[in-house]
Amino acid sequence: MSQQFHQLQQFQQLQHEQIAIRTGARSRLPVIVAVHSTALGPAAGGLRLWHYPDWREGLDDALRLSAAMTAKFAVAGLSSGGGKAVVVLPEGKELDAGRRGEVLRDVADVIASLGGRYATGPDVGTGPDDMAVIGEITPHVFCRPVHLGGSGDSSPHTARGSLAALRAVARRLYGTASLEGRRIAVSGLGRVGAGLARLLATEGAALTVTDIDPAKRGIADELDALWCSPDEILAADVDVVVPAALGSVLTRRTVAELRCSAVVGPANNQLASPDVADLLHQRGIVWVPDHVASAGGVINAISTELHQVDTDQAQARVMAIEDTVDDLLETARRSGLPPARVAEELALRRLRRADS
Ligand code: PHE
Repeated sequence: MSQQFHQLQQFQQLQHEQIAIRTGARSRLPVIVAVHSTALGPAAGGLRLWHYPDWREGLDDALRLSAAMTAKFAVAGLSSGGGKAVVVLPEGKELDAGRRGEVLRDVADVIASLGGRYATGPDVGTGPDDMAVIGEITPHVFCRPVHLGGSGDSSPHTARGSLAALRAVARRLYGTASLEGRRIAVSGLGRVGAGLARLLATEGAALTVTDIDPAKRGIADELDALWCSPDEILAADVDVVVPAALGSVLTRRTVAELRCSAVVGPANNQLASPDVADLLHQRGIVWVPDHVASAGGVINAISTELHQVDTDQAQARVMAIEDTVDDLLETARRSGLPPARVAEELALRRLRRADS
């Protein structure tokens, strides 16, 4: 078989176990649920309500994000599979409360139809109150508000998990996990990004921050952080860049402009394409795969809601991301491979073991 044909075949191969695409009965919007793998257990992954110019781009996002969830669980050592839900919102239109309820019920119907193969959680554009609405229709939902029996907002846990990853990176780079005085640029001040920036400020880091929403500038003032424009932050003269907004920010072009020693943060799918990880490695920039640095939210939710672990133990599991990243960086150093490849191999090993 010619190399080209082989590549084409691989490209055309469907890697996901199941994809449900429906026009919501109430909202008339595209509802997409991608179940990438249930090899390790029933799939979980957040619900993203986001604007896309075309529903096919939403599908593309769901496919990539659900695959990343499989890796996230495998590396974190959790017995869950990877999935993701995306609702494609038309560009330039915001959902009012009534429409939002319709959308959430439409999503809940699709989840219910999957019979437990997929459970949702919060993601970009959704939070615990939305999970409560979904929970009225299907039990397959994480992170409902605490008073309703859920584990509540996952973002503080995601933020703490990213802090743990940053500490491991600091130890690798500077011989100490302390972040005091380190120049750190946080791109994106949403629920996770703002929480992480606050934690970093408490640790004594010298912060530069940005968000596409200029109203977030108040957070910079509050934390005594420098504010820069979103398109300048990646090239900022700092020690570490922390992507905490949407994905695909690391491209061949942006990586060439980086001036930092490491990139590590909670945004999902940071690489525009997998080969960008090699480029970062060639430039000597430490990149911790996003599925490792962003695992704190799911680790807490799944440990407490599915495995009945108490909150202290769940917290310890979140903070153990520091050990995971330590191991990853040490294996990468010894093998000369990029951390992304080491993480990928670890995930594949765990998935293969589950399959056999
Ligand atoms: N947004 C979370 C993530 O990407 C998804 C999630 C959180 C799913 C909590 C379940 C529970 O990891």
